[in-house]
Parts: sequence; C-alpha cells; structure tokens
Amino acid sequence: MDAISGVLGERGVVLGVASLVLKDGMTAERAEEVVRAGVAAGAVAIDTARAYATVDDEAVGERLARVARDARPGLPIITKAGHYRIATSAWDADGSAERLRHDAEVSREVLGAPPSLLLLHRADRVRDIEESVRTLAQLRDEGIVETIGLSNATVEMLEQVREITHINAVENRLGLGVDRFDDYQYCVDNDIAFLAYAPFGGPQAAPLPTRVPRVAALATARGASVHRLTLAAMLDALPGCWPIVGPTRVESAVDAAAAGHEVVDDELRSAFSEDMRTREVPLPGLSGVATD
Ligand SMILES: NC(=O)c1ccc[n+]([C@@H]2O[C@H](COP(=O)([O-])OP(=O)(O)OC[C@H]3O[C@@H](n4cnc5c(N)ncnc54)[C@H](OP(=O)(O)O)[C@@H]3O)[C@@H](O)[C@H]2O)c1
Repeated sequence: MDAISGVLGERGVVLGVASLVLKDGMTAERAEEVVRAGVAAGAVAIDTARAYATVDDEAVGERLARVARDARPGLPIITKAGHYRIATSAWDADGSAERLRHDAEVSREVLGAPPSLLLLHRADRVRDIEESVRTLAQLRDEGIVETIGLSNATVEMLEQVREITHINAVENRLGLGVDRFDDYQYCVDNDIAFLAYAPFGGPQAAPLPTRVPRVAALATARGASVHRLTLAAMLDALPGCWPIVGPTRVESAVDAAAAGHEVVDDELRSAFSEDMRTREVPLPGLSGVATD
C-alpha cells in the first residue's frame, strides 16, 4: 500500500467537526446527530483537533470523533496537536516536543486508540518546525499515533523537513475558486496525502455558485446540489486529495458525505475545470501522478 492510500484508505469526503464544536448555539445532541448522519451517508474519515474545544472541556471535538467511530467501527480519525484553546476567543500554538507528546497521549486516551493521523495543527506558528517533525516521527515509531502530518504548512517548510522523515499527510486550506493547487501538486508529487480543508470557503464565504457557476448551472439542470456535484468533481480531478467539509446541518452533512458516490461524467468534469480556469486557479496537469 502506498503512503497516500495508507493514511485514509478509501477516497471520499472527510467530515470536519470544528463548527459542530465552535459554532454559537450548537448543542451536543445536534452535533452528534450531524456526525452520525454524515457517517451513515458515506464520510470516509473524521477530522477533529485538540483545539476544537470549549474553554472548560478540551476533549469535545475528539469525543465527537468517537461517536463517529462507534457508528462505524474502524473509521479513520484525524486529529491535531500543538494548538489549544486558552479563552473564549483565543487559542495558542506550541510545537515543542513536550506539548506534542502530551497532546498525542491525551488524544489516544480520549479516542481509545492511536489516532489514524496526527497533524501538527499550526505548522505556520511553531518556533522550531524541525523539532516538531522529529517528535511526530518518534510518536509514530512508538505506535502512539499511526501516521503523521502537518497542517497549514508551506511547500518551503515541507522541503525543509523532508530529510528528517516522511510526512504522510498535509492538511491545508483549498478554497475552490480562490486557492491555487500548488500545495496539492507538491504533495501528490511527493507521495503525501493532501487533505483540502474548507473547499467551500468556510462558514462566512460567499455562496458557492458564485465561484463555480458552470457546475451550479449543471446542478440546477439536473436537480442536484451544487455542493455535492462540486465535491464529486473535485474528487475526480484531484487524485490523492480528500476534501474536508464542515456542515452543521444533517441535510448538508448527508448531501456532502454522499458526494463520494456521485458519478462524474465529461460534462461535469469540463464545467468544473472551466470554472477553475476562469477563476485563474486552473486545475493542475496530472500526468504521471500516483493515483489510488
Ligand atoms: N487544519 C486547519 O487549520 C483547519 C482550519 C479550518 C477548517 N479545518 C477543517 O475543515 C473543516 C471544514 O471547514 P469549514 O467548515 O470552514 O469549511 P466548508 O466545509 O468549506 O464550509 C462550511 C460551510 O459549508 C456549508 N456546507 C457544507 N456542505 C454543504 C452542502 N452539502 N450543502 C450546503 N452547504 C454546505 C455549511 O453549511 P451548514 O452550516 O448550513 O451545514 C457551512 O456553512 C472543519 O470542520 C475542520 O475540520 C481545518
């Protein structure tokens, strides 16, 4: 099994739980309902973090991941270390060996098993990225976590640490029609799984159809959801990439999670490609990349 498919296995949509923890007015019951619905509809993994916490309870996000795994035993769980909540609207970052080891051990305890993938949450904010990566590699060697990666990492940073150890995965923002595909391309070229967070631009973004008008028109013509068709086209166009979405309603969780089973035809393929090209973020040429 190559490193890309070894992290998560199945291709498809990953369900992120950040808003299910952090959104005002969200209740534990509703969050669990959304998670169970997303898993039942086909989400292939859960994305959580130590930082998806309330001020009083640092394990809320990881307990939601456990709810998901209880619903589907063996479901991969991605969590993140080195970033933690310190007040109502304040978080801090610490990529030291002590902090990462502590976080990884607590994650393993809360999840009841080694995380499938442990990411350094704010690679962009740590003091010594090489120390952080050496620690992640030790945690993987010791079996405290199954695989390791960086989140919010630059290509320069990945180049800097490439001699230390093999990074299994990178989780960076890939807002469709906004962000370029360079980080993704680097990861695919280097056998690193790419987790694309916030493909719809997050909770505050402009409506998705404004960024993918051709896919939106096709969705209207087919009586389908633009979010679902967009995710399906994204999975088709980007081998080695797993989109991470953050729905807060059962309906959107089911719709997004099921995108992994949507059939992509040439019409959808070219609508998506053309939408990206006209936004000046053309899809990468994929010749010669490893696929799953
Ligand atoms: N590593 C990091 O530093 C980092 C940073 C940010 C996010 N993340 C991860 O990425 C996840 C997703 O991030 P995000 O929530 O900001 O981005 P997102 O999924 O791009 O945007 C969330 C918005 O998309 C809507 N949506 C999702 N699926 C939909 C559907 N099928 N139909 C209609 N609307 C839909 C949601 O609507 P509703 O609320 O109405 O459902 C919500 O308003 C997070 O939960 C987290 O796990 C990681």
